[in-house]
Amino acid sequence: MSDVLCIGFDEVGQKRVKTACDFLIVKEAFYKTSEEIFESETPMQPRCVVISAVGKEKKEDIAGEVQVVRQFFPETFIVLVVEKKIKLEDAKFLKKSGCNYVVFENDFLNSTRFEYVLLQVVSAAYLPAKVADFQPNTTVDFHIYTIMPLNQKILPVVQPGTLLNEARLKKMASVDELYVRRNQIHFYNDYLVKHPDMSAKGLANRCRVQFQSVSLAHSNLIFLLTDQAEAGSYDQGKVLLQNCQTLSTNLLETISMLPDPWSVISQSTFGMIGGTDRSMMVASMAAVASFATSMGSSDDVMLAGLFCDLALLELSPKSLGKLDTIEGRLALNPEDMVVFRNHPLTSLNRLLESKMLVSDSVKSIILSTHEQADGNGFPQRTLPVRIPVEAALILFHEMVDLEFRFKLGKERETYQTVRQRVFDREAELINKGQGRFTAILIEKLRGMIDEQKAS
Ligand SMILES: [Fe+2]
Repeated sequence: MSDVLCIGFDEVGQKRVKTACDFLIVKEAFYKTSEEIFESETPMQPRCVVISAVGKEKKEDIAGEVQVVRQFFPETFIVLVVEKKIKLEDAKFLKKSGCNYVVFENDFLNSTRFEYVLLQVVSAAYLPAKVADFQPNTTVDFHIYTIMPLNQKILPVVQPGTLLNEARLKKMASVDELYVRRNQIHFYNDYLVKHPDMSAKGLANRCRVQFQSVSLAHSNLIFLLTDQAEAGSYDQGKVLLQNCQTLSTNLLETISMLPDPWSVISQSTFGMIGGTDRSMMVASMAAVASFATSMGSSDDVMLAGLFCDLALLELSPKSLGKLDTIEGRLALNPEDMVVFRNHPLTSLNRLLESKMLVSDSVKSIILSTHEQADGNGFPQRTLPVRIPVEAALILFHEMVDLEFRFKLGKERETYQTVRQRVFDREAELINKGQGRFTAILIEKLRGMIDEQKAS
């Protein structure tokens, strides 16, 4: 069973799909038409269907194809690739016919938006659940699944509305791993709020689920900001942004009660492209540091951190795999290098074009997330006194994240170990009168790290 079914792609389009699927290690299959899919044996809902409308003149035909797929696969995420000459009202019409995301052919071929979408809806379609979260004689409003180890088939073990009595919980405990669908994570979140477990373990689990809720709200907002059919959907954008902010505040509240939020957050992340998909991790770690050091506003750090790398989605597929290391970033091709060096500014512009209501302080943080105290930052080489401390915290935690990301074939280090190494290196540079950060910031971070070690 393939994860991604593709309909109507020519050779160039197929090659593009393959690049993305190979990179994310998901399985794709190609079909000429939707009928071809239903004639072959595909009993299960695929996680994603991608339809190419390139070369098709009539919007009614395209909408018809989308409707057929939607009818057969009510739960599947449908991406529609359209020609750039399409009018906005036609794009909106096609979106209403049942697809989830509309992308121009040009952006599909030449940016990494497609990888981002696949990562969210295919690779991260299911998230782990813990049996310890569920209390006897309660009911849940969502499915709980298990994945069969042999064929990777996903089976529901609990249906919505089922009473979780002792026998059922025992049965759940006997299953190796439990999962919930990522798009139902808010129900899981609500369940934990309704049945709070205030033990350290309970709080850590709540933090994990809240982290995933923010992560989902964040990716939904990124989808909206980059969907061609959603240009001008300002009201919906405001609602999603508000939702993202509320969930972030709740997450930061839980984090403030945890003795070791670092381990919890660092074990909650996924992300393989190395750009916008790492924003949740970097933003929350920087927000924790802002909170722990009483530097800046942790809410502003979080919000700026979530959107400062939005424009990295515009990098070409040639950049894949290069964002994960400093050397890789230096080896970007010239066009991608321009996109990369300008991404703080472009990310901000994208937010402003979408009329997102963010405060002036969040705007200046976004713009300064790659500026450095030694004046070697980008895009504007801002004077050190003008760099908001929140931006410096985001840069520091992005540097830690760059070294922390799981690298194939390398033993995974703890977040704290990696952070200590990056910190020591930067502190050493301060002694030499250099460095990306101010001496004050480094001293405050030292205080935070030492305090954590002592506890
Ligand atoms: Fe960035």
